Amino acid sequence: MIPANIDDYRLLAKKRLPKYLFEYIDGGAFSETTLRNNTADLQKIALRQRVLRDISSVDTSCQLFGQDWKLPVVLAPVGIAGLNARRGEVLAAQAAEEKGVPFCLSTVSACSIEEVRNGVQNPIWFQLYMIKDRGFMSAMLERAKAQGTDTLLFTVDMPVPSTRYRDIRSGLSGGSMFRRQSARFIQSAMSPAWAWDVGVMGRPHTLGNIAPVLGDNAGIDEFWAWLNQNFDASVTWKTLEMIRANWKGKLIIKGILDPEDAKEAAKLGADAVIVSNHGGRQLDGALSSIQALPAIADAVQGDIKILMDSGVRSGLDIVRAIALGADAVMIGRPWVYGLAAAKKKGVLDVLNILENEMRVAMALAGCTNLAAVNKSILA
Ligand code: FNR
Repeated sequence: MIPANIDDYRLLAKKRLPKYLFEYIDGGAFSETTLRNNTADLQKIALRQRVLRDISSVDTSCQLFGQDWKLPVVLAPVGIAGLNARRGEVLAAQAAEEKGVPFCLSTVSACSIEEVRNGVQNPIWFQLYMIKDRGFMSAMLERAKAQGTDTLLFTVDMPVPSTRYRDIRSGLSGGSMFRRQSARFIQSAMSPAWAWDVGVMGRPHTLGNIAPVLGDNAGIDEFWAWLNQNFDASVTWKTLEMIRANWKGKLIIKGILDPEDAKEAAKLGADAVIVSNHGGRQLDGALSSIQALPAIADAVQGDIKILMDSGVRSGLDIVRAIALGADAVMIGRPWVYGLAAAKKKGVLDVLNILENEMRVAMALAGCTNLAAVNKSILA
């Protein structure tokens, strides 16, 4: 099959990956209602079809944080994305750079920030989870600074990891008794193509940014256990003040779904918020991101930038989100499906597909640039 859209890449990823890894990427929390609503609610948004306007040249470029980007799309931070292809995050960052969009590395990546930065020309964005060990947290920020990172995403919607049934069933998370059994199961269930590429059996090759605290012999089980023990559930707005005081670059708060929280983030000096429910992986039953977006756009209008993620699966969805008040969107699963299916080429292809779809959607809605993509194009 020649992949034509993001759904096709999802199917290719499913074919290639061991089951537990595909389920980890693809799944959401509890009954996955919010996960489903993220995509379904976007698709319900109708645009006005406009005709007979000169749309022979369509410009998808945007300005964000003083830089020009080719598309209003950011590759979202995805934990252990590097398990999907050898040096996966490096490949994805290279694809993003080639396409002219930002790449954001997760705190819990498989490749370290140094390794990823080494593979690209320009600094990358970095995402921070609040870790109980503040010394480790500060050291991580220093490492990001040392790699030239000027944009920090502080993720606030995961003070505790949510319950994801698919990961419990696959043995990726859950009781240690099952984990030990599933380690054997995982090895026997691995797809040969994937195992060949990634090399080591179900084990991140470098353990990324948290390698210094895990030691050399740690594998995926130790990685997971560390995460569960070290996420800081006591974070408050005071923590944000502390980070703001320590980070001179752009600070973006990721995981805002409520207008009051968006206002608070703006008040405390955030440069942007990301309207997000973590791709339906945290509070199931929360609003879909696209549902939450308009009220947040109203609340902070113009004061700070607004990004949105969770459920974007086409260029048409990007146009919808921008029309409803986002300055740009982030994509999580789509780039990981691309990476899993076809490595760097897959990520590039996903970005090219989104761009082409966006161009067509803009043209048929009568828009030649992103300034024209606003409420007036909604039906
Ligand atoms: C995520 N997300 C995420 N966010 C974050 O800030 N740090 C992280 O480490 C991760 N890890 C992660 C793993 C996986 C497998 C997924 C799917 C997502 C959330 C991510 O940044 C983004 O908000 C969502 O993926 C957006 O939704 P879509 O595009 O996947 O629908």
